[in-house]
Amino acid sequence: MWDDVKQLADGIGPRRIEDLFQNANRAAEFSLQASGMLFDYSKTQLDDQIRAALIKVAQDAGVEARRDEMFGGAQINETEGRAVLHTALRNLDGGAVLVDGTDVMPEVMATLRQMETVANEIRGSQITDVVNIGIGGSDLGPKMAAIALSPYHDGPRCHFVSNVDGADISDVLRGCDPATTMFIVASKTFTTIETMTNARTARDWLDHHGVLDSGRFVALSSNAAKAAEWGIPGDRVLGFEDWVGGRYSVWGPIGLTLMVAVGPDAFKAFLRGAQEMDRHFRAAPLHQNMPVLLALVGMFHNQVLGHATRAVLPYDNRLSRLPAYLQQLEMESNGKGVSMDGNPLSVHSGPVVWGEPGTNGQHAFYQLIHQGTRTVPCEFLVGAAGHEQDLRHHQDLLVANCLAQSEALMKGRSIEAARDIMRTKGLTGAELERQAAHRVFPGNRPSTTLIYPLLTPEVLGRIIALYEHRVFVEGVILGINSYDQWGVELGKELATSLGPVVTGRETAEGKDGSTRQLVEYVLLYR
Ligand code: F6P
Repeated sequence: MWDDVKQLADGIGPRRIEDLFQNANRAAEFSLQASGMLFDYSKTQLDDQIRAALIKVAQDAGVEARRDEMFGGAQINETEGRAVLHTALRNLDGGAVLVDGTDVMPEVMATLRQMETVANEIRGSQITDVVNIGIGGSDLGPKMAAIALSPYHDGPRCHFVSNVDGADISDVLRGCDPATTMFIVASKTFTTIETMTNARTARDWLDHHGVLDSGRFVALSSNAAKAAEWGIPGDRVLGFEDWVGGRYSVWGPIGLTLMVAVGPDAFKAFLRGAQEMDRHFRAAPLHQNMPVLLALVGMFHNQVLGHATRAVLPYDNRLSRLPAYLQQLEMESNGKGVSMDGNPLSVHSGPVVWGEPGTNGQHAFYQLIHQGTRTVPCEFLVGAAGHEQDLRHHQDLLVANCLAQSEALMKGRSIEAARDIMRTKGLTGAELERQAAHRVFPGNRPSTTLIYPLLTPEVLGRIIALYEHRVFVEGVILGINSYDQWGVELGKELATSLGPVVTGRETAEGKDGSTRQLVEYVLLYR
């Protein structure tokens, strides 16, 4: 499947990315616009032939047919026997979506209305603080989006507690008044140990202050029975179906805390933005399809050129949690070692995704990105404008820095240019050579840029849906199931068995020497 692309890549030789711009139309030819966003992948080694070969990879893998199966409600999550239909949650005016012959849209719209009712009730009440208790997809999505859309916040203060480390909930509760705080317990399964532990601590906290009543909790879950068992009345449980995966769930009830923060209208604008991207993904031919191109460029770097990691660098401080969100979305989805049929993958799984907002990262890890010995493909995101109209000069600097980084990565600085700089500083001879060597930037390092007008709810919806579909495309090409997560199970099982050991109720007998030594240390300092 990859042979043609690999052969073309072998032929790249010493070619430099900047030389590709001898084609005066390169920027336009190697970028595309959709939903008002511009995705520029011209600062990569892709040329016409490589791009065509990559698109053939997508065609041969059956991306289009599989995409239609996904939107059509087929059980493409084959290891769990489930459809994958988070897109139905934002299908505001897209017509019927059938699962096993039943249209799920009436139920989806009814749940959205229920969310609005609950959100409006909370927003119109005395509640000053809402604490979302959840982890993974039940935390990262709403938290990332709530931070991204802070200019739209007009509801109570929202907090997010995820870690089982008691420090997390303690730090949040310290700033809350028990009389005016409520909790949204977000858990698809309603069994996740971290979430249930934090929810119990929240209940004890209210109880301790004598203000515990069932109205202080809302549950967001597919497991209504467990929520009821926990004491949350049915009308305070917002449900969703198993065809919504945890890391794809921000569009439905799991987005309630976001809706409480920004209001139902802004939340629906977020859904509409995603729906626009869905429409683009379904209709655009592969070579003009933004999620497809985003996926193919990424796979070219990972599978063909062997770059094992990819940095996501939003020049938008409010996207500070986007890299963490994408880590779950991409690495939990495509970090698989076997294909759908259970055979080992003959290619690499998806890359390690990491990052931080610019310009902060520039003063931390960009050193390695520019001069380290390994290439890290970079994905820049930036808004043309910012919300702070009175601080336009900040935005100017932010955008200039973003563009400067991708230019610097591509062009680098030659030894001759470095020598010139050293000469102007008065150096000569061996010292000039030594100092100049440290100031060389190899350049020729690939990056892409996604630029959008302003980080509005619609735009955020488009960006997140874009990344979701990118994951889908990559998963289809790899031939894996992007919608299960068996790789998280073993650690959970072992943690359960180690629980009584770290409390000293059971011995560490049978554990390996390292684990026994660590347990001994813990018991010593308890
Ligand atoms: O452990 C991984 C995981 O299952 C994620 O996929 C999920 O988002 C997270 O745990 C939380 O699960 P739940 O919403 O069921 O509490």
